[in-house]
Parts: sequence; C-alpha cells; structure tokens
Amino acid sequence: MSAVKISRTKDIAVIEVSNPPVNAISHAVRQGLATSIAETIDDNSIRAAVLKCAGRTFMAGADVTEFGKPPMPPHLNDLVELIENCPKPFLAAIHGQALGGGLEIALACSHRIATLNARLGLPEVNLGVIPGAGGTQRLPRLIGVANALEMVTGGRPVTARKALNMGLVDALVDDVVTQAVEFAKSLADEDTRHRTPSAPIDPASFDADIFDKLRTKFRAGKPGLLAPQAAIDAVEAATGADVEAGKQKERELFLRLRQDPQSAALRHIFFAERASSKVDGLDLKSARAIESVAVIGAGTMGAGIAQFFATNGHSVILLEISNDAAQAGFERISKNLEQSVKRGKITAQDVISILEKISVTTAYDRLNNVDLVIEAAVESMAIKQNIFAQLDAACRPDAILATNTSYLDINELAKGTAHPKRVVGLHFFSPAHVMRLVEIIRTDHADPRVIATLAAAMKKMGKIAVIAGVCHGFIGNRMYQKYQREAGLLLLETGRPDAVDNALKDFGMAMGPFEVLDLSGIDIGYMMRKSLPAGSVDPIAFQVHDRLVEMGRKGRKSKAGFYRYDTDVVECDDVVQDIVQNIGISAGIASREIEASVIVDRCLSALAAEGEAILAEGIASKPGDIDVVFVNGYGFPRHKGGPFYHSKNK
Ligand code: COA
Repeated sequence: MSAVKISRTKDIAVIEVSNPPVNAISHAVRQGLATSIAETIDDNSIRAAVLKCAGRTFMAGADVTEFGKPPMPPHLNDLVELIENCPKPFLAAIHGQALGGGLEIALACSHRIATLNARLGLPEVNLGVIPGAGGTQRLPRLIGVANALEMVTGGRPVTARKALNMGLVDALVDDVVTQAVEFAKSLADEDTRHRTPSAPIDPASFDADIFDKLRTKFRAGKPGLLAPQAAIDAVEAATGADVEAGKQKERELFLRLRQDPQSAALRHIFFAERASSKVDGLDLKSARAIESVAVIGAGTMGAGIAQFFATNGHSVILLEISNDAAQAGFERISKNLEQSVKRGKITAQDVISILEKISVTTAYDRLNNVDLVIEAAVESMAIKQNIFAQLDAACRPDAILATNTSYLDINELAKGTAHPKRVVGLHFFSPAHVMRLVEIIRTDHADPRVIATLAAAMKKMGKIAVIAGVCHGFIGNRMYQKYQREAGLLLLETGRPDAVDNALKDFGMAMGPFEVLDLSGIDIGYMMRKSLPAGSVDPIAFQVHDRLVEMGRKGRKSKAGFYRYDTDVVECDDVVQDIVQNIGISAGIASREIEASVIVDRCLSALAAEGEAILAEGIASKPGDIDVVFVNGYGFPRHKGGPFYHSKNK
C-alpha cells in the first residue's frame, strides 16, 4: 500500500500519510508527498489542500532509522519549500503528535488545526540534532523568539491548547477527519502566501541577551551537550536580516550534528529503550489488564509505588503491619503530592482524585480481589517469605505477586508459594513515582503472560521496563556494585573521595559514587554486605564505608558520611582523609595522584566487564538493556549511550 494517497472532496485535495506506527517521514513518505503536493499545485480544479495522517498520530518526525544512511531525495527541506510556496491554502490537520519533521511540514502549511489531545514539538535535541528543515527559522517567526527557544532547546512538546495560545495552531477541533475539509473549504481561494513566516524578525520583540543567558544555562545544566547550543545558534541566526542565511546556518548545524557521535549515542538509547521490554518468546499482546493493585509496606519505596499506580488511575490498597504505619505512608504520599502542586505539576483537584484511589489496611483479606501485589517490605528473606505466604492465602490464584527486592533470590521466594508461576520481581528505583526505570525480574518458573502483563502495564504508564533474570542485584545493582568496588579501591589509592567523584562527574555522571552513597545511606550497603556469605565481598574496597557507618556517619541523613553536611559548604574533612589513609596503609596502598581519565576508565571498565558477564549468563538479553538501565537509573550520561555502548564506541 502506498505511504501517501491523495483523494478529493469536491475541489479540496485530501493528502493522507499512512506509515504505521507513527507516520515517520521515511523515503517512501517523502516520495508520496512530493507527488501529491505537485498534483495539488498543478491541478487548477483543486482550490485548497488538507494534509492529514492515518492511524494514531500525525507525522512524528523524520525516520530515525534512516539517519545513519546516505540521504535520498526528495529531501524534507525541498518538500517544505514546495508547500510553503504553494499559492493555495494548505491545511495541516493534526491529531496525536506533530513532532520534528512532522511539525516542520505543518509550519510550512498556511494553516494548522489540531485536536485537543494533540502535542506539537521539536524534540530533535533529544536525538542529538536540531530541526533541519527550517523549524528553527519558521517557529520564532510564528510564536516569538522566547517561545521558540524554549521548544527547540528543551525538546518538550506543547499541548494543543498552549499551541493555540502561542499562535502555533489556528484552531482546535474535536475531530480532524470530519472538520478538516470544512475548514479548508472556508479558506479556498484565499491567497495564503502572506501567511508564510519569512519576514525578518523585529529585534525589539526579544531581549538582546536571551541567547547568551540560555547558552550559560545549558553549559551549566547539560555540560558537553552539543545540540542545545546549536539550537540556540540556529534560532539566533533566524533573527538576522538575511532569511536565506538563517536557513543555511540551520542546515550546516544539522548536518554537522547528525554525523556527531553524540547523536549516534542518543539514537542508540532511543531504540534501546523501545526494545528493552521486547524479549524472545514474550508476546506483549497476551498481556492482561491491571486495574487494582496492592502495595505491602508504606515506607519511602512502598509509598512511592502506591503513588505511582494511583496517579495512573489504579485503585491501590496500601497494607502495613499497624494502622499508624499505614497512616504514615498515606501522609507521605499526601506530602509528595502537595509538593507537586507547589511546583505546578498537578492541581489541588488532582490530589483529591489521586488520594481517593488509595485506601490503607492491616488486613490481608482485603486483598482478595486485586490484580497485582507489590511487596516493598524490608530486605529480609524471612519477612518476605512470611508476607508471600499470607498473600498466597488471601489473593486470587491469578493475581500477580511481585517483590520490589533489590538483591534477594526471587526464585527462592517463589518456591515457597503455592503458584510460583505468578511470582516475579518488579524493581523500582527511588523515588518510584519519579524514576522511569523499572526492572522486571523473570523468575525461572514465571509465566510469560505475567511478564508480558507487567511489561505492557509499565509501558502504558510511561515507565521504561527492562526484563532481567534472577541474580544478586539483577542488572543494575549487580553492575553498580562492581563500579562501587572499583571506586572504593580508587578511594584508597587517591586518598580522597572527591578525587574520584569529580573525575566521574566531569565525565558526565550525574553524581559521583561517594555522593550517591551519602545520599542513599552508606548503611544500606553495609547491611547488605553483612548479610552475604563470608568471602563474597572484596576485603579491602569497602573498609572505609564500613568504618564510617560504625562511627555513625551514614551519609546525608546523619549530616556526615564521605562528606560533611553540617555547614553550608559540603566538604571532604580530615576525619575521612585520616580513615582512608590508615586503611590504605594497613592494606599496603600508598595514596598518589591518579589522572581523572584513568579513574574514569577503571570504573567504566569494571561496569563493562560485569555487563559482559551478565549477558553471558543471560541475566540481560541484549547489550542495549544494560545501557538503558544505567542511563535511566544510575545517572550515566545519555549522550554517551550507556556503559556498554561507550565501551565499544569510545
Ligand atoms: N523514526 C522511526 N521510528 C520511530 C520514530 C521515528 N521518528 N518514532 C517512533 N518510532 C518507532 C519506535 O521505534 C517504535 O518502534 P517499535 O514498535 O518497532 O519498537 C514505534 O515507532 C512506536 O514508538 P513508541 O515510542 O514505542 O510509541 P509511543 O506511542 O510510546 O510514542 C512517539 C510515540 C511518537 C511520541 C515516540 O515514538 C517519539 O517520541 N518518537 C520520536 C519523535 C522524534 O524524536 N522525532 C524527531 C525525529 S528527528
């Protein structure tokens, strides 16, 4: 079937793109559009044209799979120019998402209408590029420099209502299919060329220092990232007197970025995220619906998980051992939600509807009809076994029983239950209502339909799910443990936590390994190490950690850990340096200066080596899964593609 077809409703041409699933502008789409646009221009009986898309969305951008290949004409740029110069009204009828090249095509049309739930955006920076078909030039002319800069550098789509307020669309409609032709008829015979945003931009319409301010902001917030800086350059070029020079500048920047390793790495992660819940033998279409959920344990993790499900419209029962503990969990969720209201993310009415979805209990028999249970109690096999025995007795036999354990052997847990096929891991990252990553742990006897149900549910709710096998720490924590071990050795060799932290932050990690430990609590790893069999923990690498915990320095929560937090300035104090030195001496390690690149190489090599082992054992099914876990759960710089990708492409 052709990717683009043209039909007529009287004297209105209706051009329809159909390239499932997201109408990406592939070579076939460009060819089809070129033919249909030419017909619209040449046929004198056509008075106006509607451009719309079949399926769930308007065009969601250039076909990213074509990025690494030689460009094939017709180019998107040429199509956009053809539409812009068409003397007849050209109406973009937008539903779903008009993204990237899709929005660039719409910007060249004389008019745009959108359904209320549509989203419009230029997300190219997320793929390490900028719009390359005039988007950075037409957008500021249409909606102003400040608005355009926000859209192009941030990459976040705007709602249809915001688009209307900014002048990005001309009208909102209930249904593009029925209303677009009527709208086009009302425009027929209008000479629309004056609508084309090509006049020079009035310098008085924006602050002269807007570009430099934004450059500084991105340099600080996203150091080393090329695309946002190029996006600023391109929009600035649009404000020059020479319109063609602006377009030329955008093209040059786009072509340069497209060849850059940052774009290749970001494309890798884009596709890896979409592949992560696809595993051989798993049919996502077999997924069952999940409506009601129970969460066992209302601590930070349990409350976050309950909040996440309730926010996504599920009814949630939060179970604790006492009414007080259950109520404390409920209040934790309330406070989180109030924070979100203060930040303008949700309304007070949203808070009421979310909290209405959550009920608290201490009675297991209240869970007799839930579809999914997530246990988020303390990390103790005995306690979890006890909980699962009660769940076995209370829940429907087809309810999915998941544990949020970070380390424990879920096969062991499943073995003790009546229906091991329904027992799996669902490992959230903290805070669970914020972090997008979730590891779905496939136990040896897990029913594939159970895994498919969780994978589909997570995707629907916007999480990025990676499917992993059972081992100590699964993918993320198992690898991170090796990274922390190497950092622990480097701590003794350099004599200072900040030498290691700074090297890894300069590489692009969101936080240094010791900053992470201080934030999450050094005592968590301490307790985990104590629970392991003798001989399974490196005898040297964690000695400083253990000493600090035994001194009461557990991290930020006790105002001291690897750093001190009791004054305005966070510092690496003498106490820690003395401990490091003494432990180093007794381990036969003399501290010395080590180059930052060596620190980074050693920590990342430790990650990559453990990644190889995880793949070889089948814990992860593909290398991209490992990258997805580290980029989304451990602050690995996205534009470096993840630890595995980086190790193969540096
Ligand atoms: N080019 C090629 N393939 C694309 C694509 C693009 N621009 N956008 C999405 N796809 C593919 C995905 O890889 C996925 O393929 P799969 O089913 O084989 O895994 C499929 O389309 C569905 O995408 P997915 O992201 O899973 O669907 P969604 O409904 O959750 O989200 C979008 C839809 C459009 C919001 C999202 O895919 C997206 O943001 N796409 C990128 C848009 C973009 O950056 N455009 C500018 C390109 S320069």
